[in-house]
Amino acid sequence: MILEIIKMKKTQSDISQTDIQTIDELCIKVEELESLVETISRSKVMWETTFDVISDPVLIINRNYEIRRANKALAKACDLNIRDVIGKKCHEIFAGYQKPCPKCPVDDIATTQQPDYRELEMFPTQRQYTVNAYAVPSVFNEQDESIVLHYRDITDEKHLQKKLMQSEKMAAVGTLAGGVAHEINNPLGGILAFVQLVMRALEKEHACQDDLKEIEDAALRCKKIVRNLLDFSREKIDERMELVVLNEAISRTMALISVNAKQTGVEVVQDMEKDIASIVGDLNKLQQVVLNLVTNSIAAMQGGGGVLTLSTFMNPEKTKVFLQVSDTGKGIEEENMNRIFDPYFTTKKQGEGTGLGLAICYKIIEDHKGKIDIESVIDQGTTVTIHFPAVSGDRHT
Ligand SMILES: Nc1ncnc2c1ncn2[C@@H]1O[C@H](COP(=O)(O)OP(=O)(O)OP(=O)(O)O)[C@@H](O)[C@H]1O
Ligand SMILES: [Mg+2]
Repeated sequence: MILEIIKMKKTQSDISQTDIQTIDELCIKVEELESLVETISRSKVMWETTFDVISDPVLIINRNYEIRRANKALAKACDLNIRDVIGKKCHEIFAGYQKPCPKCPVDDIATTQQPDYRELEMFPTQRQYTVNAYAVPSVFNEQDESIVLHYRDITDEKHLQKKLMQSEKMAAVGTLAGGVAHEINNPLGGILAFVQLVMRALEKEHACQDDLKEIEDAALRCKKIVRNLLDFSREKIDERMELVVLNEAISRTMALISVNAKQTGVEVVQDMEKDIASIVGDLNKLQQVVLNLVTNSIAAMQGGGGVLTLSTFMNPEKTKVFLQVSDTGKGIEEENMNRIFDPYFTTKKQGEGTGLGLAICYKIIEDHKGKIDIESVIDQGTTVTIHFPAVSGDRHT
């Protein structure tokens, strides 16, 4: 456009030779300028496209944590339009913090000017990232100084790693405990048999009866622990696998436990889906899962009544069968959530809990190709959700 206007000047009749020369020079300059603009805008598009094809969030910030540039992955992770991201503080929009993220590398690398690598846990968004940070030295002036941050979401990876560690830990403890339990089982049987013989041999009012009863109770308690350990360490459940309806595992278990629930003032609500598919499983083991969960719930509601709800349902696709046990008990402390499946982890008083209940549940559920998930709110209650693969085409009313 500019070029055409200038060229038109040349066609005017009163124009001098010097002006024509100047116009020609001007035309060359304008052409050079246009080509430069073209090159710059091509590089801009090229650089933006390159930036955007990186599937991890990448951003460039200044020393005040304000975003200067960001790629599409960042905007997507923040659920924002890319234009709305620019100028905002990275920790506010990306991590949900009001101030820089804990362990943020920005201050350190601004001082050292060395690349840095860290793992960050962003509690508000409940996501974990690795971040590679690089200082970009100022080119024109000091305000120019910026930092490139490359994030990688490792939340799922970490979750999987934790699960793997959990399984390995359980396998190791299981093998160890299984061996010990076997060794203890026989002498324990002997103690129990002999103490019962002595009790029978003495008159009912004999002064030693109370002490002997104490020994019998203690031996029975040990037997229960040994039984748990043996169940826990058993390699895998095998020939007892059959078609099982979860509702039955619940009703059988509740027949045993309802008296105990009533005594503790707990209201039991059962909400079972009638037309539910079977799963492949071991009814005894599944009963044990229900029993362990219900026992935990009742223990968590000790002293204040409360409601225990057991429900079964299916997902809309009818591929999974769910079992849910929820209570209105004291809940689980945040710092214990990572440990509740650990064998021997208990918050109960000594002698009251072995800490194997949930570890056993975990193993049984894993053997049934199922999954367990626990959600808890302090002083409001806990909900345990388990799901198993449904046997398709099989419905029970
Ligand atoms: N429904 C629940 N409400 C509150 N805390 C729970 C609940 N279920 C489990 N917990 C916590 O998890 C811990 C571990 O549970 P787990 O069943 O493995 O062992 P335990 O109940 O302590 O012992 P055991 O099962 O041998 O009696 C419990 O001590 C308790 O702190
Ligand atoms: Mg328990």
